[in-house]
Amino acid sequence: MNIYIQTYGCQMNDYDTDLIRTILSENNYQFVDNTEDADIILLNTCSVRENAERKVLNHIHILKKDSNAVIGVLGCMAASLQKSLVENPKNKIDFIAGPDSYQKLPVIIDNILTKKGHNYDITPSNSETYANVYPRHQKGINANIAIMRGCNNFCSYCVVPYTRGRERSRSPENIIAEAKNLILSGFKQITLLGQNVNSYSYEHYDFSDLMEMLSDIKELKRIRFTSPHPRDFKLKLLELMSKRDNICNQIHLPIQSGNTRILHKMNRSYTQEHYLALVKNIKSILPDVVLSTDIIIGFPTETEKEFLDTVKVVNEVQFDSAFIFKYSPRPHTYASKKYPDDVTEEEKTKRIVKLNEIQRKISLEKNRACIGKVQEVIIEKTGTKKSKLECQGRNVANKIVIIDSIGNRVGDRAEVKITDATANVLKGSLI
Ligand code: 5AD
Ligand code: SF4
Repeated sequence: MNIYIQTYGCQMNDYDTDLIRTILSENNYQFVDNTEDADIILLNTCSVRENAERKVLNHIHILKKDSNAVIGVLGCMAASLQKSLVENPKNKIDFIAGPDSYQKLPVIIDNILTKKGHNYDITPSNSETYANVYPRHQKGINANIAIMRGCNNFCSYCVVPYTRGRERSRSPENIIAEAKNLILSGFKQITLLGQNVNSYSYEHYDFSDLMEMLSDIKELKRIRFTSPHPRDFKLKLLELMSKRDNICNQIHLPIQSGNTRILHKMNRSYTQEHYLALVKNIKSILPDVVLSTDIIIGFPTETEKEFLDTVKVVNEVQFDSAFIFKYSPRPHTYASKKYPDDVTEEEKTKRIVKLNEIQRKISLEKNRACIGKVQEVIIEKTGTKKSKLECQGRNVANKIVIIDSIGNRVGDRAEVKITDATANVLKGSLI
């Protein structure tokens, strides 16, 4: 049986797709690169915003027009929409499986092919961490490791606690073993993943303890993590980051809003002042730090004046980059039940355009400040869209650097002098 799998959503979903490929490969399924050759098409889905779900349903309609393949919907949409997703004939979905059901996929698929048993498995688990499966299919220079799964925060806008269940962490030994395996397979960089990565907790070990143990692995050249919650960000972690060369001075620190009343309604458990104080601390301990963030605009009841607080914080912090989203009410969430989505689409568009423009200028200035500096770049590919004679990699800050010659192979670490910059990429020459 040939399987094609498509992934939507976050890095955790990319990681899960590699888990799924590993589990199914061990059960004699083969993976193909196009839908035409597939007997089974799996879509590993995201529910974070409404348009993420719409994209998947549209894709299934297109697939069903010219394919008889069995269609399985996995991941967050399966967990959020539950049986209604597979029971509605309009959706044309043959089976669904939630984020905790992937070890059961061989049985579920067998049920479908033999027309026996259920066409769904969406039972949430409080213990599944997939600690016994090391995904073998990761590609490139960076490998992800999910160190914890689920979320206990219940931010009022967020569907994740309902799709991915409660927090649970893997043991440090198990994570270290996976990291060592990845190094043996040639990976230079590891990104630790968790919906709330810094609330990692296993017996008496916290996130800083785990980072220290991983950073002791000499062969590991770059360690990153995403996404931390500002409330759980400990001084101990910053001090460790300042001492260890192989922990990248790069932090993605979602703020969501710069206004304290909105933050309270979002159930973020920090204020504008707390967030700014944390950033001040980060910058004083890690002067070269590169910061990025997530922002939601148009949360219910957000006034123009409150939106301007977010603008103020963006100007003050000077993030290197920001992902800015329009609020989208999600099923099950407190906000969708209690707060009408009362900021008009027109107003949301106005605010997102304004904030994106402000951020683009800051990103450009930050990138232009790199011109003339020499940076270490790990090469990710030779040849770019523009020219076969260029190569592309990432610096410690995780920024894309395009190099104007191909003196390197994928995986090499190169010293690059930055010669030019846009808001999104740096350009440079090998030295
Ligand atoms: N509407 C808009 N954006 C959202 N995010 C999470 N839930 C929603 C929602 N209901 C954003 C947050 C989060 C990122 C992954 O997606 O900014 O950090
Ligand atoms: Fe989307 Fe969140 Fe699920 Fe990731 S965890 S796939 S961002 S809903």
